[in-house]
Amino acid sequence: MTDIDDISINLSGNRSLEQISRSRRRVLKGSLGLLAGPFAPSALLGGCSSNDSNDQSTFRNNPRPAISFKPVPVVSDPHYDRVDVPEGYTARPFFSWGDPVEKGAPDWDPDARNSWRDQGVQAGQNHDGMHFFPFPETPDTRGLLVINHEYTNPTIHPQGLTITEDSVGHKLRPPEEVRKEQAGHGLSIIEVCKDDAGEWQRVYPSRYNRRLTAYTPMAISGPCAGVDALKTRDDPEGREVLGTLNNCSMGVTPWGTYLIAEENWHNYFVNRDRADYDRRREHHRYGISSGPHSNRGYWESTDPRFDATPKSGQPHGGHVNEPNRFGWVVEVNPFDPDFKPVKRTALGRSTREGCTCVHHPDGSLAFYSGEDSRGEYVYKFVPEGRFDPNNPKSNRDLLDKGTVYVAVYHQDGTGEWRPLRWGELGLTEANGFRDQADVLINQRSAADAVGATPMDRPEWVAVNPYSRDGYVTLTNNIDRGVDPDQPLNEANPRSQNQYGQILRWQEQDSHPHAVRFKWELFLLAGERPPEGKSWRDNHRYGNIEGDIFACPDGLWFDPDGRLWIQTDFGDDKSAYEAMGTNQLLCADPVTRRVKRFLTGPAGCEITGITSTPDGKALWVNVQHPGISYPASDGQTRPRSTTVLITKDDGEVIGT
Ligand code: FEO
Ligand code: CA
Ligand code: CA
Repeated sequence: MTDIDDISINLSGNRSLEQISRSRRRVLKGSLGLLAGPFAPSALLGGCSSNDSNDQSTFRNNPRPAISFKPVPVVSDPHYDRVDVPEGYTARPFFSWGDPVEKGAPDWDPDARNSWRDQGVQAGQNHDGMHFFPFPETPDTRGLLVINHEYTNPTIHPQGLTITEDSVGHKLRPPEEVRKEQAGHGLSIIEVCKDDAGEWQRVYPSRYNRRLTAYTPMAISGPCAGVDALKTRDDPEGREVLGTLNNCSMGVTPWGTYLIAEENWHNYFVNRDRADYDRRREHHRYGISSGPHSNRGYWESTDPRFDATPKSGQPHGGHVNEPNRFGWVVEVNPFDPDFKPVKRTALGRSTREGCTCVHHPDGSLAFYSGEDSRGEYVYKFVPEGRFDPNNPKSNRDLLDKGTVYVAVYHQDGTGEWRPLRWGELGLTEANGFRDQADVLINQRSAADAVGATPMDRPEWVAVNPYSRDGYVTLTNNIDRGVDPDQPLNEANPRSQNQYGQILRWQEQDSHPHAVRFKWELFLLAGERPPEGKSWRDNHRYGNIEGDIFACPDGLWFDPDGRLWIQTDFGDDKSAYEAMGTNQLLCADPVTRRVKRFLTGPAGCEITGITSTPDGKALWVNVQHPGISYPASDGQTRPRSTTVLITKDDGEVIGT
């Protein structure tokens, strides 16, 4: 995704009490005694060790997964246009932008002359989070692959975006182009199976194959359904919204549904009434444009619901509340083609990267989300009810009631989840919060108010299937240590952080409902320091044991407990010249040793990963390749692509 998506708009001035009372220097020099006990300094400060015996971490209650492939080197060729995987593995393009999804869809036109109607039944662009849902009776040979389409590139049109300007400087777009871009967002659901020759294929046509786009009708449920702040001219009930936007990472429920996370939706709206904009924190705190046009695409010029300027003569102010209807978790049942997607407002409104579930044997659940902007927060949602595998009906609306918490990382390696509950911790009428729905719609402001810790752009969260420990990628943050509201702290320890880190935590008693946890840095990404130097000596250095990388983003545990890390850095920028192209790596959560498994074509981001339950088929997304992948002929328009990876001996990926 482009740089406009991660701009710091957290003006809350949040600092933890420790940040205010102690400088980083004093912590490092004088307070190490505080860090004794379960959190030894080397672990807390990211001093990873190379083997178990040296590892002071207490995050060790999971088995060592087998990771025996021969790693691939970085690729520094700016013309590199392929995907490389280790010896003994095969990677092949499986599902690309423009491939037919719904029955009767036309083939992809290499000149991008497919119409918006064609695009609405073909694969969208910018494949991101995804998941393989197995059919219960044939779990390792047949299933549904569900794939997010985050946004669109100029490649969607034959000659890129057509943009003109009116007499007052407002950008104008042709309606046909806007419609096609809207159709290129959303989600694809495709049926896949292993054929008699043992090869994975798509099933086409299939009753399950379908597209969701930026104009698919969706229900709104939970505490914000029907409230005034969700009503618009076109939906006076505040209970139905058209479409989903910027579907980045995702989540999966234990009852077999898919959770879409809506990330950078704010870029599509504009409110040109500056006074109203300044008053309306649900606009300005999320970075919606105050004019003269939206940050991206300028859809408002042809589709009035993206113009969130209040219109006094229209019911509910026209579309001023339309942005309040994005930024939610959207639940989709891939096995039911008639299921109307539901925006679950109880989980709060944010520019959410993902929604990762942790599931306790007693039925307790929590759903973790990062908000990928500089200085934003890590959240968890705890449903009121418990998952009951024997009573599917009782699970159906578990996401409609519960509590959102936001993370506070203390300097001593402990942390707490503070509830965003109306009436508590200053979330009161006196501070501008009218009720619980208002807290949820303004989740960022609520998190500011309770003193959450601003982080280095939290992206994906992964949960170790054995220990239930959570891991979050903090991809980078050039404002860290520069913006006075984002001082250095132990969780975000590098100034103008360009390389990112991975933080992990363990809930008290490893229970999803805990409000206290302990945390440590799993690793700091960056170049390998020379002998005698450490990450403290130069901002380019990290502490990775094994293969280096930058800007961790996608993060996923496979069923055996391997931690897979996906990267998103500008491979044409000098800061990343040692890193080559974007890549997929595999880490052992016990030793922290990292091995590079895949390198992608120049210009791409690697994001989205899933496997069959037996781990023998792995799908990975190559998002926005820069040259001509997957054709790799140097000429054909590049296409975001889901890549299938198998091991030539038919065994488990990663072994
Ligand atoms: Fe869509 Fe934060 O990546
Ligand atoms: Ca991402
Ligand atoms: Ca990213």
